[in-house]
Amino acid sequence: MPREIRDVVFVDGVRTPFGKAKGQYAETRADDLVIKCIRELLRRNPDLPPERVDEVAIAATTQIGDQGLTIGRTAALLAGLPQTTPGYAIDRMCAGAMTAVTTTAAGIAFGAYDVVVAGGVEHMGRHPMGEGVDPNPRIISEKLVDTSALVMGSTAENLHDRFPSITKDRADAYAVASQEKAAKAYANDLIQPGLVAIATRSAEQGWGLATTDEPMRPGTTAGDLAKLKTPFRPHGRVTAGNSAGINDGATACVLASAEAAAELGLTPKMKLVSYGFAGVEPEVMGVGPIPATEKALKLAGLTIDDIQAFEVNEAFAVQVLAFLEHYGIADDDPRVNPYGGAIAYGHPLASSGVRLMNQLATQFEQRPEVRYGLTTMCVGLGMGGTVIWENPNWEGAAS
Ligand SMILES: CC(C)(COP(=O)(O)OP(=O)(O)OC[C@H]1O[C@@H](n2cnc3c(N)ncnc32)[C@H](O)[C@@H]1OP(=O)(O)O)[C@@H](O)C(=O)NCCC(=O)NCCS
Repeated sequence: MPREIRDVVFVDGVRTPFGKAKGQYAETRADDLVIKCIRELLRRNPDLPPERVDEVAIAATTQIGDQGLTIGRTAALLAGLPQTTPGYAIDRMCAGAMTAVTTTAAGIAFGAYDVVVAGGVEHMGRHPMGEGVDPNPRIISEKLVDTSALVMGSTAENLHDRFPSITKDRADAYAVASQEKAAKAYANDLIQPGLVAIATRSAEQGWGLATTDEPMRPGTTAGDLAKLKTPFRPHGRVTAGNSAGINDGATACVLASAEAAAELGLTPKMKLVSYGFAGVEPEVMGVGPIPATEKALKLAGLTIDDIQAFEVNEAFAVQVLAFLEHYGIADDDPRVNPYGGAIAYGHPLASSGVRLMNQLATQFEQRPEVRYGLTTMCVGLGMGGTVIWENPNWEGAAS
């Protein structure tokens, strides 16, 4: 049977405010965070009948406890979607939500679904990185990877070694700018519309309401960062100030075929152009976005010069700078993370992909002169993922 590949659109995305591990969500379940995101998507899109959601894919890196039990299915049921809506769990560590988006989008393009919910959650306070893992001893004994590959901060130090031009001062300056841009985005109310407030509960402090990103440190100066320890290597370059932290949070988005969106009266915020995932040396996993971007650009028939809006996940400043240096883009290029990134907001691993997409959708809304943008992130064990999107508000479309 001949099939046509269908266009896929990003209809809407939301996220919880991100928390510091042991902070505002210390006594909040991980699954409750993502359930609230799904409910909020349904509330914001009353023209989307819940029974039209054909699949729910939710990512988590640590799939045990309140992030286990096939979280896409349990979250769908608990969010009030009909029992007939299936769901599943997905894992590609930091690119979990990104992979939930690309995998379900491929299902839409193929014709298996009309509308899906995709997202991710990570409660790093309840589930510390590496909880319960049992790496096959062969990985180390057969030297498939260097031991440093299993500690993300060490891979960032290795990346500094590979790019000697990326100094600690440059990484710190990038981190200061991320905090400044995030504070400005908050002041301009560009982030808050994409957040869903979360009721929190503390045995000691009672009920609360999380409405803002807890990790942000507005007013950070280069002088502050210069004093911080380098926990991954003596006299290293990676610090708590130029890395994303240990965070809790969840994201979710609605994707649809262009036809289903039109039928239901849903206005697309972005149109999917292409995506690519790539593997690199695990001990320098931060370079992953470069080959992933090459794959996505090639598939789209575009070059990096066609991309006018970037959302690069800031797991570590050095990894963003390596990406920018590869493409000859300045550290402070205004097209890159104009509202700040994970260094300011936090990086609850498997949730972050949709945060990037939400911020790119805001860039598209604010910048109708932009046609193409990309979201990209590095991934543990040596991978990168990139998704290229087209702006439906692009002013050139009319001419
Ligand atoms: C880097 C890391 C080890 C730091 O952990 P931590 O020591 O618990 O971090 P903290 O938030 O307590 O910060 C450490 C110190 O730096 C200070 N600090 C952090 N950011 C700062 C900023 N922007 N300005 C000033 N001080 C700052 C803190 O106040 C703290 O000071 P203190 O020790 O006097 O209390 C941790 O955040 C980490 O592992 N990050 C990477 C996460 C990761 O690998 N993600 C996956 C990516 S692929």
